[in-house]
Amino acid sequence: MTDYKRILVTAALPYANGPVHIGHMAGVYIPADIYVRYQRAQKRDIKFVCGSDEHGVPITIRAMKEGITPQQVVDKYHAIIKDSFEKMGISLDIYSRTSNKVHHETASDFFKTLYDKGLFEEKETEQFYDEKAKVFLADRYITGTCPICGNPNAYGDQCERCGSSLSPEMLINPHSTLSDAVPIKRKTKHWYFPLQNYEHWLSEWILDGHKEWKPNVYGQCKSWLDTGLQSRAMTRDSNWGIKVPLPDAEGKVLYVWFDAPIGYISATKELTDQWSDYWCKEDTKLIHFIGKDNIVFHCIIFPAMLKAHENFVLPDNVPANEFLNIEGEKVSTSRNWAVWVNEYLVDFPGCEDVLRYVLCSNAPETKDNDFTWKDFQEKNNSELVSIFGNFVNRTFVLMHKLCGGKVPPLHADVLDEDDKALIAYIENAKKKVEENIENYKFRDALFEVIDLSRKGNQYLQKKEPWKKVSSDKEQGTSEANQKSIDNCLHLCLQLTANLSILINPFLPNTSKKMLYMMKVVDKMLDWENAGKTKLLSVGYSLRPPELLFRKIEDAEISLQVEKLKNGLVKPEVASSQAPVSSSEQPSTNQPVNKSTIEYDDFAKLDLKTGIILSAEKVAKADKLLKLEIDLGFEKRTIVSGIALHFKPEEIVGKQVVVVANLAPRKMRGIESNGMILMAEDKEGKLHFVMPENKIDAGLSIT
Ligand code: 2FM
Ligand code: ZN
Repeated sequence: MTDYKRILVTAALPYANGPVHIGHMAGVYIPADIYVRYQRAQKRDIKFVCGSDEHGVPITIRAMKEGITPQQVVDKYHAIIKDSFEKMGISLDIYSRTSNKVHHETASDFFKTLYDKGLFEEKETEQFYDEKAKVFLADRYITGTCPICGNPNAYGDQCERCGSSLSPEMLINPHSTLSDAVPIKRKTKHWYFPLQNYEHWLSEWILDGHKEWKPNVYGQCKSWLDTGLQSRAMTRDSNWGIKVPLPDAEGKVLYVWFDAPIGYISATKELTDQWSDYWCKEDTKLIHFIGKDNIVFHCIIFPAMLKAHENFVLPDNVPANEFLNIEGEKVSTSRNWAVWVNEYLVDFPGCEDVLRYVLCSNAPETKDNDFTWKDFQEKNNSELVSIFGNFVNRTFVLMHKLCGGKVPPLHADVLDEDDKALIAYIENAKKKVEENIENYKFRDALFEVIDLSRKGNQYLQKKEPWKKVSSDKEQGTSEANQKSIDNCLHLCLQLTANLSILINPFLPNTSKKMLYMMKVVDKMLDWENAGKTKLLSVGYSLRPPELLFRKIEDAEISLQVEKLKNGLVKPEVASSQAPVSSSEQPSTNQPVNKSTIEYDDFAKLDLKTGIILSAEKVAKADKLLKLEIDLGFEKRTIVSGIALHFKPEEIVGKQVVVVANLAPRKMRGIESNGMILMAEDKEGKLHFVMPENKIDAGLSIT
């Protein structure tokens, strides 16, 4: 580590075709952020870059389906993702995007440099083509019947029902997912990068030179190299992307996996004029944080490109994580089996650190892991609230009660074994946290911090300073007892100060709250202060305690589980809506174009005009309002998830459109009889759908 002068951390550029989900956060962005915050506290020269990956077929397909331009698609999701990262405290130095001019120039120049060196092979091959949509089709975008199990919605590369690997030729009745056309084969020319020429070098560099890489990463690289590398096309037929900078390349763009990693370089260029220090000087430590589906691109293809270019440093490490499943099932963006970060932020305001905590303590560092809402609640209630929060709170309450709200002195003459053991734990914790973070073991590091607070609780429990106070006012507390109380609370406060430093990379908001309570400035969070037990000066008066975490109730958890299950898109619908490939996956939770329905289906809906008679908040449910609606012929109770958008008093008297024959459903113990229609705009703001003029309640809408 100390051989390096600067660190450059990159986090995988998320595709701007859907919001980010918690699997992304656990696998990439939270670990990267912890690492960066820690290095910043160590006062190291570090830059943290990321941005939206805005090219590739999935974006053009999403645009086609939504009837908007690819630029509109990426603008929408770029904003949503950026906002989620900011709110989750991902402390990027820059969140850029690959549709930027700087990036287009950088990627284009990169390609041209390799081309001018004669490093590409030009080849003509036959590929599947959709004559109606006028595009070449990746295998994923061809569907048909699986010849093995008869699944009518198998993809051209795989059947998701029986798991068989397929090729488009094997499908019965193949058709394009874009237009229903039967794909034909058509000749097309592309530029291939001969990876096999780098095989020997890659083996030496990774298999001999980077044995310290995580076993999952090293193992995947070994398997690629053992199988043997082949030429890969670095261009595609499309009109969305970075144009191939050659005269005879009309309609050709750079392959998204060629341009995306170059996005790290462009983002650094945008960030600082000193960008070349970070990319071209050997004493830079370059680290790519990614998920396991990106390993081959970051460990094999991009390094080969960098090597071929000759101007750039290579990654020192690629600490890729495995996948996070949800409630025992693989995340599927097309089936909407995911917990979306933008939605979490609305559902659990002020609980950003809780998600950071749960996702770090359960991160899929060595194998796939499972996120369950129950475990989320358990980790919050039994670890954050009951251990960490409880220790800090008790310390502050006792210090105010027994020491007049000031840091009491430490009496060296009466330090006992327990006090000394606590001091040793504090010193030790620093080393352990540090070592684990440096080795990308964030779960273990976080465990050490929580364990230190657990030690604090045990210490307090053993010392019982509250029992040492004399109940007899006249006599007062004896000197020995007062000294023991002082020492106990002095050390607990120093421990609290240490906890704020150690927890900062993981839970930055919590750390901030602690600084506020201790009335100290950010400077205290410098890593060099950790392990010390003289951080808070004797006699310094501190603020009253504030709860660091709140309890999460059963009802909130059931609501989330319900939401997950209700949001699930059936497999048949999912496959016809949004094909997914692991490396180019469209994802969205916005069901934009639902499949066509017959008139009879529509006729089943009983839509009525109504008027809101009263509205009130539902206890312990941030999002719900209980509405009384006048439907003309009767009054209805409807529970509606609009509380974050409207105050109850401002909607009384409003005209609404009600789905009057929706089956009753209990929410928070209240039976809801129907649903009111709302429109959601681009910013996620809700608007009532209502008749233009004032009309009677109870009219049928046809
Ligand atoms: O898998 C993905 O989400 C890709 N968009 C990651 C790209 S990382 C890098 F190369 F930019
Ligand atoms: Zn099958």
